[in-house]
Amino acid sequence: MSHSGYRIRAAVSTDAPGLAVLGERTFRDTFAADNTPEDMAAHLATSYSPARQREELADPGRTTLVAATDAGELIGFAQLRAGEVPPAVTGPAPIEMLRLYVDRGYHGRGVANALMEAALEAAAEHGAITIWLGVWERNPRAIAFYRKWGFEDVGSHDFLLGSDRQTDRVMVRLVAE
Ligand SMILES: CC(C)(COP(=O)(O)OP(=O)(O)OC[C@H]1O[C@@H](n2cnc3c(N)ncnc32)[C@H](O)[C@@H]1OP(=O)(O)O)[C@@H](O)C(=O)NCCC(=O)NCCS
Repeated sequence: MSHSGYRIRAAVSTDAPGLAVLGERTFRDTFAADNTPEDMAAHLATSYSPARQREELADPGRTTLVAATDAGELIGFAQLRAGEVPPAVTGPAPIEMLRLYVDRGYHGRGVANALMEAALEAAAEHGAITIWLGVWERNPRAIAFYRKWGFEDVGSHDFLLGSDRQTDRVMVRLVAE
């Protein structure tokens, strides 16, 4: 899908190094101020190494979409995952939106909307009817964004950041509304 200055496309294996860099930067930008350096380092080491990104891109249970500028620079990504579903999610044929991250300079500029649209399309192509996500209870901007997109709070689940057990809100909507 083409937008002015960037497009959304399926990620390919050669995106692994770029995704590792973008993933680490956006994770730090979002969470470093509210977490200890130790917990951040522990999480980043396992989640955003280039090797880990290569594994995730090769995982048939995951679908990764990227927003790339016309110059080829990655400015955002979204990832769907078929897997375990928390009890709070009761709708049919669920899929998880595991990640949605946009580079700070592109917040509020429609890139997140474009990624969400593409993620919903990909979820429908996978036969999903319900889409759910976990979002840190202390991430008001993301929660506001998901509410704008019709996601509703159905409960909570734990998320381990390094050694810190945190509470995520669990939010759900139908893929096609
Ligand atoms: C979450 C994210 C993808 C949303 O994209 P975005 O382009 O920033 O989205 P929007 O600009 O539409 O913001 C969503 C809403 O948040 C609200 N908002 C903006 N800044 C806010 C702030 N500092 N605090 C609380 N709410 C805020 C606004 O109400 C806005 O809605 P509006 O357009 O009606 O005013 C993007 O901010 C992001 O990548 N953040 C960092 C990573 C992240 O938190 N990912 C989600 C992890 S679960």
